Amino acid sequence: MNKLIVGNWKMNGGMASNEVLLGSIVDGLFSVSHAQLAVCVPAPYLAQVQTRLQGSALAWGSQDVSAHEQGAFTGEVSAHMLKDFACRYAIVGHSERRQYHGETDEVVATKAQRALASGITPIVCVGETLAEREAGQTEAVVKRQLAAVIHAVGHCTSELVVAYEPVWAIGTGLTATPEQAQQVHAVLRAQLMAASQKANRVHILYGGSMNAANAASLLAQADIDGGLIGGASLKPADFLSIAQSAKA
Ligand code: PGA
Repeated sequence: MNKLIVGNWKMNGGMASNEVLLGSIVDGLFSVSHAQLAVCVPAPYLAQVQTRLQGSALAWGSQDVSAHEQGAFTGEVSAHMLKDFACRYAIVGHSERRQYHGETDEVVATKAQRALASGITPIVCVGETLAEREAGQTEAVVKRQLAAVIHAVGHCTSELVVAYEPVWAIGTGLTATPEQAQQVHAVLRAQLMAASQKANRVHILYGGSMNAANAASLLAQADIDGGLIGGASLKPADFLSIAQSAKA
């Protein structure tokens, strides 16, 4: 299967700089042959990316979605609204949301459900903190996080994208080694396969300081089907170079 390389812009960007960044990525798409690309942008820029990217091979999505369908939830953005901007993806359960906004496994699972119900593919993030890794809890933590989502979405499990993002590797310059990452990805794959026979087609992305220098060795692992890229996705040459390192 083709790799999936997703940029997570986080709270970065502006009308003018987005235009330049999107233009550079689109211009470089011809050089990428074994990966699909997407960018997950701040919600206010969804109209801009929709206008700029429709008809191109670069997909787009949001960085979050509300767990609620509609109503008195000031500041929230519903899955239905995201669909109005033709979002293909919605990141759910990013560790920054879990850490700074108190999102529990159950909230993340509901968000994944809401996205799927609107025809949006949730990119479900799981990952352990450094303390959890050092306590030997990595597998237990990621399995618990993914189990909540599988329980909520049931037979739609094969429609998920999963991202393994060790919290200690995000934005720190520390990356899981390809072997460390593959070990966790294999655990996640087995868990997905136990839930759905079609889960061999689920993309399991790695995220956490992935960059142009380390992408090829990570993407060469059997169960690493792509990347969720933060910092490096803001630099078009780096983002494209990561995508170019995907092999068939
Ligand atoms: P990073 O972020 O690539 O800057 O480490 C990844 C992410 O948080 O999705």
